[in-house]
Amino acid sequence: MTAAVTVKDLVVTFGEDPAAFRAVDGISFVIPAGSTFGLVGESGCGKSTAMGAIAGRVGNWTGEITIDGKPVTGKRTLKQRAQVQMVFQDPYGSLHPRHTVERTLLEPLEIHGLGDRDRRVAEVLEQVGLPQRFRYRYPHQLSGGQRQRVAIARALILSPSLLLLDEPTSALDVSVQAEILNLLKTLQRENGLTYLLVSHDMAVIAHMCSDIAVMREGRFVEVTDRDRLIAGAVENDYTKLLRDGV
Ligand SMILES: Nc1ncnc2c1ncn2[C@@H]1O[C@H](COP(=O)(O)OP(=O)(O)OP(=O)(O)O)[C@@H](O)[C@H]1O
Ligand SMILES: [Mg+2]
Repeated sequence: MTAAVTVKDLVVTFGEDPAAFRAVDGISFVIPAGSTFGLVGESGCGKSTAMGAIAGRVGNWTGEITIDGKPVTGKRTLKQRAQVQMVFQDPYGSLHPRHTVERTLLEPLEIHGLGDRDRRVAEVLEQVGLPQRFRYRYPHQLSGGQRQRVAIARALILSPSLLLLDEPTSALDVSVQAEILNLLKTLQRENGLTYLLVSHDMAVIAHMCSDIAVMREGRFVEVTDRDRLIAGAVENDYTKLLRDGV
């Protein structure tokens, strides 16, 4: 299987010596194309920072990152930026309160100079299961689940190969969480997408991910797969603690 993402010896540092702090401290992993890789670990262990480096949002890193076989740096071309899109926990915070859904979806197309905009907006709304009339709504006129669908549509509209999902359902009610997770699975299958997923919910991780890394203080303390996670055959005490939700 081809690798969609390879990360080798990734270190992300904040601040200057002697007070420099390694938020990510030498992690390596491979995500096969079309699969979902899960990142779990306590608050502050470096999950979002690692995603930020992969997305090109955090520049102060060393190591190697390749996306679709090509090495990337902190500085990305427009095309490389389109390849990797993020979806965040809080859809309310990540959507502009005074922009309609349509404007939110048109913006990336304008930035990336893509044409055929009306058709692309219609298509992506359809893909995330929102009626066309929602184009003219504002975020406050949408439910939490609908807002997260808009955030996913915005991520999809540039036809990325990789989605970075940072706690994408943890702000939602449980029943809505399941809908969004199933939507993400369908979108992955239909579009051949690769996912990197952060969640603190082991049920979500087990449902979505084929491979899982447990992070602590910037490092991977364990890398496992779904079968071993479900079977409970995890090595590390810390992983057990997370799994059992203690
Ligand atoms: N821009 C920044 N400047 C300085 N330190 C930062 C910056 N961003 C993150 N950090 C620090 O890096 C560490 C990792 O933060 P990060 O946001 O990656 O954690 P996380 O695993 O995503 O946590 P959570 O589960 O709470 O979202 C934390 O100690 C945080 O305070
Ligand atoms: Mg985070």
